Amino acid sequence: MTESDGLLAWRSEFPILQSTTYLVSHSLGAMPRGVRSRLNDYADTWAARGVRAWAEGWWKLPVSAGDKVAAIIGAPAGSVVMHQNVSVCQALILSCFDFAGRRNKIVYEDLNFPSVMYVYEAQRRNGAHIHMVPSADGISVPLDAMLAAIDEETLLVPISHVVFKSGYVQDLAAITRRAHEVGALVVADLYQSAGTVPVDVGAWDVDFATGGSVKWLCGGPGAGYLYVAPRLRHRLEPAVTGWMAHERPFAFESGPIAYAHDATRFLHGTPAVPALYAAEAGYEIITQIGVPEIRRKSMRQVRLLMDLARERGFTPRTPERAEERGGMVILDVPHAEAVTRELLRREILIDHRPGAGIRMSPHLYTTDDEIVHALDETRQILDSGAYRQHERLGGTGF
Ligand SMILES: Cc1ncc(COP(=O)(O)O)c(C=O)c1O
Repeated sequence: MTESDGLLAWRSEFPILQSTTYLVSHSLGAMPRGVRSRLNDYADTWAARGVRAWAEGWWKLPVSAGDKVAAIIGAPAGSVVMHQNVSVCQALILSCFDFAGRRNKIVYEDLNFPSVMYVYEAQRRNGAHIHMVPSADGISVPLDAMLAAIDEETLLVPISHVVFKSGYVQDLAAITRRAHEVGALVVADLYQSAGTVPVDVGAWDVDFATGGSVKWLCGGPGAGYLYVAPRLRHRLEPAVTGWMAHERPFAFESGPIAYAHDATRFLHGTPAVPALYAAEAGYEIITQIGVPEIRRKSMRQVRLLMDLARERGFTPRTPERAEERGGMVILDVPHAEAVTRELLRREILIDHRPGAGIRMSPHLYTTDDEIVHALDETRQILDSGAYRQHERLGGTGF
């Protein structure tokens, strides 16, 4: 297969591409080579500078790393802070609100990421009323139904920009407009979009956004991010808080917190310094290439993957319209779990989700030949019965 693809020059930055067919960036993006030297920098700094490292940059990392994410998601510098993961960020946002008044409704899609649901569901005991907007096909979320569900009683709309089970892209701008008409606030989970689908939280006027670095940002675990629109900052007082959110953390003042006046008001305790060192290598590659360029390639290869899958008898469970699709493709493959195990054994890295199918994703470093190879092997595993040896084993666990 011939292709002229300038992004393939980046392949040498990702060591795992030499030994595997890597189609699993919707789960864990390939590690950039630069991560190793970042982690060495971290160890060298700790070894040589000791406790002085805090004042020489470590305390500022949740904001300085956040600025690198901000540049990718259309947020102003100084508006994004780093936490461990999305679930923590959602809990922190939620802790700014209560459900005592009439405005106690939470609206989200039933295809939302389960961990996000768990955070909001737990607030039923405090009076939250959860309204889940159903998907008719398990792939898309009807925009009309989402807009209609957001009313004067709605407090928060914590939704995925791109749905993890199908790659469906929700219209964040339209949902935010509707939420603002009735005084509700939108919490966008950008995990499955940032780094592969262009995001502009500023232009879309989104209130809160969160995501992690594990997937399309190739930043590894432990580097979740939280954006809060600067216009909201002064009126939010998170109950999930800590000394890093204090205006004067090093004064060690007793009693109630005096919140910082900048985005550090949404921090917590001591930051996960090594994770933030590691994550920056991925952010820099994504920023250097630019998400629009990555999206152009992704749209072409997602289409290719869907077409080739159909030719081999696999139905994509992914939206038909290109602009409604993110970077991943879900394929309806019989014996999906056992087939996944055999693909992994053959060094073809993909995953599967119960009730959805096998997920495969090209990213900036994928060749067309890798897509062909993964689909040919999937067909061969089914036709030869090679999947049967895995049928009674447990889950793949990622
Ligand atoms: C849309 C979405 N949100 C959140 C998560 C993960 O949440 P957390 O960072 O809390 O582990 C994932 C994937 O793992 C996801 O796909």
